[in-house]
Amino acid sequence: MAPVLPPSNEGGPNPDSSDGVVIADIIGKTRHVNIFGGFTRDIDTVASRLEDASKNTTVLAPENGAIMQLPRKPWEDPRDYDQYGANAYDGSEGEDRAHKNLRRFVEAHVVPENPWRENQRVTTLAGNTIWFENKDGRKVIQPGDVEVTTVAETVANGEVWVLKGVLNYA
Ligand SMILES: *[C@@H]1O[C@H](CO)[C@@H](O)[C@H](O)[C@H]1NC(C)=O
Repeated sequence: MAPVLPPSNEGGPNPDSSDGVVIADIIGKTRHVNIFGGFTRDIDTVASRLEDASKNTTVLAPENGAIMQLPRKPWEDPRDYDQYGANAYDGSEGEDRAHKNLRRFVEAHVVPENPWRENQRVTTLAGNTIWFENKDGRKVIQPGDVEVTTVAETVANGEVWVLKGVLNYA
């Protein structure tokens, strides 16, 4: 008589095992968005939210390629160079400036809601109002028409969406 086997777990994690898994556990390992995932760990407000099982979040994570193609690093702001010159990010004041800019970038991509419905206006942690639309079979974030390529992960406290570009964070 064949032994009774437990349900197969081949081909990927068992969906039931996602109970208790939070965004913070998976964002650094999520394919194509691990650069953004790393940034989320540097920003305390965001890192603690993504660990919090009692607060749902939709993370709008730009693809690695979109971040690498930015004309400047997410922690750089041309206004700082205007005001402080080429050494704007040197020393501890420079580090604070860079951290503040990175925080704005990351928080502009964090929606404190999940589920999030089409056309539902939400305020990101950075204070910007955004929404999404389904257009010709594609999901796009507005304003800016930024395409969502996929919903990469759904876990206990929300979802990670992968974006083809970055949202306005100025
Ligand atoms: C939180 O998000 C998860 C994943 O989308 C969802 O299953 C759950 O119902 C949400 N919880 C609340 C209170 O909306």
